[in-house]
Amino acid sequence: MPATPTVAELAAATAQQLGALSSAFAIDWIEECDSTNRVLAERPPAADERIAVLVANRQSGGRGRRGRQWLSWSGGSLTFSLRWRFAAGAPVPGGLSLVAGLAVARALDTFGARDIALKWPNDVLHRGNKLAGILVELSSARGCAMTAVIGIGINVRVPADAQVGGHNTVGDLASVLAVPPSSPQLLAAILIELQRLLELYASAGFAGLRTAWEQRHAFAGQRVRVSSENMTVDGECAGVDEDGALLLRDGTGTRRILAGDVSLRPLAAEAS
Ligand code: BTN
Repeated sequence: MPATPTVAELAAATAQQLGALSSAFAIDWIEECDSTNRVLAERPPAADERIAVLVANRQSGGRGRRGRQWLSWSGGSLTFSLRWRFAAGAPVPGGLSLVAGLAVARALDTFGARDIALKWPNDVLHRGNKLAGILVELSSARGCAMTAVIGIGINVRVPADAQVGGHNTVGDLASVLAVPPSSPQLLAAILIELQRLLELYASAGFAGLRTAWEQRHAFAGQRVRVSSENMTVDGECAGVDEDGALLLRDGTGTRRILAGDVSLRPLAAEAS
């Protein structure tokens, strides 16, 4: 049985996969922390321009959206966070979490995955099963540019008896690809797509990526229920706008739903 790679070997293998692009990233691969989003957000920014990435083999308190816990399995998940700094003074455009989902979907395509779809605002699905979740947390210190910590959790190989909450059924890459990529291969592919798309997004906002996102929209034209603590809205998904807001059509017109503490589920699935 091959020896389990050390975190230093995993980081080196990622750098090798990234090739010339590896100088754009400062990758720290660690055995364990509670949440890579929390730890990275608390780290002081580096003096250089590299994009900070924190990867953990295990998370003891992984955070999900809407205050949920994010479960991962050592050796069966890829969990990491990336820090993206916006230009000083620049307004942060909407749709950042949608961009991250698109980057993950495109990275999975490079391994031959088919039918990778996106559920607004930021789940990555394969035929209705959730392969990856994304948690974007924004912060700004006084006088400093806005910073986003983009946390991504990918299910690579989920144990058969795994209990996962939420409205999605859990999926994993091992069910999608005959040979799932190694963690360094997967991480490098996602970082390459993320960097490319985040640069486009930083210069032109979500508008330039909107069509690409809509082409993968899992619930395009379908009736869904969007709910939060304070509201429930039913309607037909009519795409997303240039800020990444969901457009929901009902009898009274089209409403914009801003990403936030909301959940979305297809009404057909709920009835079944
Ligand atoms: C969700 O779908 O609820 C979002 C899940 C985000 C999970 C990732 S795993 C890496 C990063 N660290 C965390 O604590 N959460 C994100």
